[in-house]
Amino acid sequence: MKKVQTSAPTNIALIKYWGKRDTKRNLPLTSSLSVTLTNMRSWATVQEASGTKDLWEISGDPSKAMRVLSAARLATEDHRPLQVSIRNDFPSSAGLASSASSMAAFAKALGHFLAQDQLPLEQVTTWARLGSGSSVRSFYPGYVVWDAGTDLEGKDCIAASRFHASQLPVSLVVCVVNDGPKPIGSTAAMERSRATSPGYKAFHQKNDEMLQQAIQSLQKKDFERLGQLSEQNCLAMHKVIRESQPPIDYFLPGTHQAIELVRQLRQDNIPAFFTIDAGPNVKILSPPEYQEQIYLACQKLTGVKKILLDQIAEQVEVSS
Ligand code: PMV
Repeated sequence: MKKVQTSAPTNIALIKYWGKRDTKRNLPLTSSLSVTLTNMRSWATVQEASGTKDLWEISGDPSKAMRVLSAARLATEDHRPLQVSIRNDFPSSAGLASSASSMAAFAKALGHFLAQDQLPLEQVTTWARLGSGSSVRSFYPGYVVWDAGTDLEGKDCIAASRFHASQLPVSLVVCVVNDGPKPIGSTAAMERSRATSPGYKAFHQKNDEMLQQAIQSLQKKDFERLGQLSEQNCLAMHKVIRESQPPIDYFLPGTHQAIELVRQLRQDNIPAFFTIDAGPNVKILSPPEYQEQIYLACQKLTGVKKILLDQIAEQVEVSS
């Protein structure tokens, strides 16, 4: 087969995954809820390499992608050397979930190239999961739940769209505070939280309840409640991270400025809420009609370098 190219969008968690029940299989301790985006995407191309070794064209460390490739090879018994290129059309490793979209795009490309699309999508998502847990959510559009499951091998640890984007239309204004790589990757930071953070267990005890409440708020199309829950969950996760030893603080001055701005916007009766992943960048969610006003307000923040605009994906495939 000649070269294949695939893409996948990133996703942003509203109820976070922060901790693993199995580090080898990359299974989460608790279920999570995310929105899959439209514009921020990764692209992967795969073709047979001319020599005897795999060739990687990828920004940063290829070890996550290597785990995905090993799983795909094991499943397909196809061990041809491959030439792989993965690129993101937005900053990598900066808490904008580039590993989620890039591992999803790469696993899809391997599903085409090595398995000729003959394997169930769910199986392809398990390859992606080995590179980035949260990538399994990037295979599905709209509001997505990734079920932690209980099976030891992770057979019931799967993601699925729970609501279409139109259930509660939301736009995003992404404040890029720093587009460089983060000081510590999420896997190492999760492990440090597990080993040392006093609130780690309590965070997980509350997470399922928060997830159920978030699902109810979506059923009721209650943006305000969804926003409260998302902010609470994000701040609880960052507290766990900050209280790890040695402490990790992903926030930068621009992060605090953007948080303040969102609180101010709400005082001015503009419905908006924020969420922040393992990095300094702030994603502001609002009903679509407020996106432009929020964008203009964010332009005044001195700590924000770049602003990206996005919305929830109605579908994840695009023609390449
Ligand atoms: O899947 P990873 O290893 O990139 O970790 C993702 C962790 C968070 O983005 C902070 C939370 C989440 O649920 O996406």
